[in-house]
Amino acid sequence: EYPFVVAVDGPAGSGKSSVSKEVARRLGWAFLDTGAAYRALAWHATASHVDTDDAASVAAALDSFAYRIDTDPYGYRVHVGDVDVTEAIREPGISAVVSAVARVPEVRTHLIEVFRAIIAAEGREGIVVEGRDITTVVAPDAPVRILLTAAEEVRMARRAKELEGHSAEATGAQLRARDRADAKVVDFMNAAEGVTTVDSTDLDFDATVEAVIAVIRDAQ
Ligand code: C5P
Repeated sequence: EYPFVVAVDGPAGSGKSSVSKEVARRLGWAFLDTGAAYRALAWHATASHVDTDDAASVAAALDSFAYRIDTDPYGYRVHVGDVDVTEAIREPGISAVVSAVARVPEVRTHLIEVFRAIIAAEGREGIVVEGRDITTVVAPDAPVRILLTAAEEVRMARRAKELEGHSAEATGAQLRARDRADAKVVDFMNAAEGVTTVDSTDLDFDATVEAVIAVIRDAQ
């Protein structure tokens, strides 16, 4: 049976990844981080010495792109070939080139089909899918579609806090530049028709998770 799909879009630093993963855990559902697939391809292109600004070369790199993205919200890992790239794809060098990779039309066409196949093959009752174009392109017919937003200062502050432990985005400026580049390809700053906006500016993590679950319960 086709799973209950919760589509979540939003800008960088909106907390959509951690919130979506926690929602999936609490419901016992699957979780799909689509940004991780774009990041894995950026990692593969970089490792293969592909010029990520050359769209044709990036598109050609798809032929040798063997990857696996788990949908288990607990044992969540990303592999390219035999290499576990779960942490490597969060490095600033990948964040800096991922937008260029993600705007290549062949890349989007390919990954959108992969995401739809992953959703269709899911054995659990439901799946929370998060990204930039899930509510509009990947799963526009999903019974729950959410745009997770937060004021820019709040997003920057949250990302800065995340940085204490890991190396992700170097600066707020880099994050803003990535949002601007990504927004030229898909509009994830404004809710499409029928999409519910959840604004987490004044909500802590737990309250945001609860707000998303409330939208899901309403639709079930
Ligand atoms: O969500 P995350 O920040 O990890 O996404 C990394 C990049 O992948 C984004 O900056 C964007 O370029 C691309 N992306 C996309 N469409 C999605 C998810 C991510 O283009 N659905």
